Amino acid sequence: MFLDQLLKTTILFISFALFITSCGQQQHTTPGVTSSTPVLVDHAPQMFTDRCGNCHHLNENTAAPMLTEVYARWQNDTAKVISFIKNPEKVIRESAKDAYPTKLFKKWYQANMPAFGWLSDSEIVVMLNYANMGGK
Ligand code: HEC
Repeated sequence: MFLDQLLKTTILFISFALFITSCGQQQHTTPGVTSSTPVLVDHAPQMFTDRCGNCHHLNENTAAPMLTEVYARWQNDTAKVISFIKNPEKVIRESAKDAYPTKLFKKWYQANMPAFGWLSDSEIVVMLNYANMGGK
């Protein structure tokens, strides 16, 4: 009887431990990133600093707009932001005069952000998620 009880308690404990572990893993899941790209998420801060940090700060407008909460400014259209990063000039050129990319371009003194067409979508998304959350 006692052994039976002990076994049940052990099984319960193990299931609970597994549950907690899986919750922990979920926290690291980033939207738009597949399970085959977990390493990229860890590299996000460094990639952001190396490639974007010269112009963009997270919480302060500098030579370029701050990127915290940038998704909201693009109505959460991640695909659009990705195409902008890959080719800003094209997205601005193809936007209507009163559309957000055109306004953004004017607001930033018609500065040309360089095109990052060589980056993969996953690389862009992990950097953007990192920046969007203010570096958290
Ligand atoms: C040489 C400076 C420079 C670099 C490097 C740069 N950007 Fe930009 N970025 C800009 C400027 C300037 C703008 C404002 C729009 C414009 O004028 O093209 C901008 C705009 C943006 C926007 C839109 C911001 C908003 O408020 O809607 C995003 C998103 C963005 N950049 C992401 C990135 C990412 C990600 C990287 C790195 C891969 C990067 N940028 C690298 C200069 C830069």
